[in-house]
Amino acid sequence: MKIRTLLSPLNVEELYFTKKTTVVIDVLRATTTIVTALHNGAKEIIPVSSIEFAMKISGGGQMLLGGERNAEKIDGFTFGNSPLEYTEEAVKGKSIILFTTNGSKALVRAKFSANLFVASFNNAQSVVNKVLKTKENLEILCSGNNGMYCLEDSVCAGMMINQILEVNENIELDDASNTCLILYKKNKRRIKKMLSEADHGKILIEKGFADDIAYAAQENIYDIAPKFVEGVVKI
Ligand code: MLT
Repeated sequence: MKIRTLLSPLNVEELYFTKKTTVVIDVLRATTTIVTALHNGAKEIIPVSSIEFAMKISGGGQMLLGGERNAEKIDGFTFGNSPLEYTEEAVKGKSIILFTTNGSKALVRAKFSANLFVASFNNAQSVVNKVLKTKENLEILCSGNNGMYCLEDSVCAGMMINQILEVNENIELDDASNTCLILYKKNKRRIKKMLSEADHGKILIEKGFADDIAYAAQENIYDIAPKFVEGVVKI
């Protein structure tokens, strides 16, 4: 098995993912939010890459809108992008269209994957278990920050790589995957602190979302591996 880690979605075209097994990570906060919403009973999440498209498919209120611009809730949307908003009471049975600056766009970019999973610190081990069952090579797509690198996604990628190596040492890692593994080993006992010190973590704290960071830092609290199939993420 080979693992390749992409440190930003902008380095690859949509067709790159055709027939691949891919995991998308956006720890702060899109994939943490998707995992939470689905754990709390949302029927499905529909990631989109523009606000206009989100509005267009929302069907006059049939589906709820969630997401952010500059980390803040978008006018007219029901939810922002804080996982803490996506409580069972708020989301049970609902279809939610999600637009975010990086994470929802990364999922849309990887849409031609044969297997496309959504991962965060909250559910990394479950996704690893599913990926191992595919017996395919793995692409880990870090959503990054506006096309640039971000620390938290690569540390989460490193955690998943470490979990895979625990059951199979015979894995070929590319340079980015090796780097993520080193970063995870350096940060594994200080995930919350690492998130607080990361560029986007600092912005979230400034904007009053410190609780999201503590939440996103929790490892393997959910045993779900959300999968994107035909435009929709479900468990
Ligand atoms: C994103 O997709 O860029 C993020 O989830 C932004 C955020 O809400 O923190």
